[in-house]
Amino acid sequence: MKKGLFITIEGMDGSGKTTQINMIRDYISEKGYNVMLAREPGGTKISEKIRDIILDPANGAMAAITEVLLYASARAQLVAEVIKPAVESGSVVVCDRFIDSSFAYQGFGRGIDIKTIADVNRAAIDGMMPDLTFFIDMSPEIALKRRMASSEADRIEKEHMEFHMKAYNGYKELARLYPERIKTIDGNRTVEEISQEIRKWLDTVV
Ligand code: TYD
Repeated sequence: MKKGLFITIEGMDGSGKTTQINMIRDYISEKGYNVMLAREPGGTKISEKIRDIILDPANGAMAAITEVLLYASARAQLVAEVIKPAVESGSVVVCDRFIDSSFAYQGFGRGIDIKTIADVNRAAIDGMMPDLTFFIDMSPEIALKRRMASSEADRIEKEHMEFHMKAYNGYKELARLYPERIKTIDGNRTVEEISQEIRKWLDTVV
């Protein structure tokens, strides 16, 4: 039985997701809700171990379908341990990346059949489809420039620009297909302008 709310944030690495997630947490808590943050891949002890395997730059030989299954495994554990119990107890869960990342990166990016990803993930998410998803729209070139200054690149980040471009276009396609759930937020603006638009959408659900 579902009582709370499940919100996800998607977009390129470097698009400013973390800043907006913290803003969403503060805004929803101020409204009196219990908020829980999560991130993918990871968020539980087991999921973090799976994350290390996925992102290890030494694992370049990983088959695309292995990657799909590992992301789905990490997701299944996060759903079972964190997301489902929290939402069922009435909390608002805000997750940094979720199923749309698999559609965008493994589906549109790596060319794995979308139906295969949907099938595998149906089992993983156990009915926990996000109620609302924010796609922070920033091109991979700009997002990469913003990331340059920060830490070393992981295996996915090291992929060439063409892969990230496919994933980015994949997000745009997903947003076009599911406009009720996925809200496209122009990420090329000030933090305040972006969070103002996000707050406007949040007001419609909390
Ligand atoms: P993320 O945790 O956002 O990276 P960082 O901690 O460096 O900001 O995600 C790591 C990478 O995993 C990111 O480049 C996108 C990718 N990813 C997928 O390819 N498929 C997925 O299903 C998920 C959740 C992430």
